[in-house]
Amino acid sequence: MNETNQAAPSGEIDWGVLRAAALSAVENAYVPYSKFPVGVAALVTDGRIISGCNVENASYGLTLCAECGLVSTLHATGGGQLVAFSCVDGHGNTLMPCGRCRQLLFEHAVPGMQLETVSGIRTIEEVIPDAFGPRTLAEYSGS
Ligand code: THU
Repeated sequence: MNETNQAAPSGEIDWGVLRAAALSAVENAYVPYSKFPVGVAALVTDGRIISGCNVENASYGLTLCAECGLVSTLHATGGGQLVAFSCVDGHGNTLMPCGRCRQLLFEHAVPGMQLETVSGIRTIEEVIPDAFGPRTLAEYSGS
């Protein structure tokens, strides 16, 4: 559950700043196997900008998507929730996060978190409808 139940701010998101942070992060991707670097960045509720890149592994299935690094950084640098999110490939093209990473982001997103996607700005609820999440567990335990 989003602890503060804080909605995404109605003000404009500076997508240029987020994209620049994602483009900076993608330079650090470790992708010797896929050669497909990914960089992500997000605006946090307290105003900070965090980022991440994918880190692959010789045991392919252990690969960490860029979003994994971002969520780890979110908590390692003070917590909070994600307000807006951007994901790019090595050419700077916008990417849609994979399904697993949409679930990962959902856990830490404010309601209405905005994503820059291949089909424009979407909310987290639009890209993972009827999501299984913390509220599902809370409702179950309360029933
Ligand atoms: N990848 C990400 O980092 N995030 C996504 O949302 C999609 C996929 C990475 C994993 C792997 O290192 C590479 O992209 C190719 O699948």
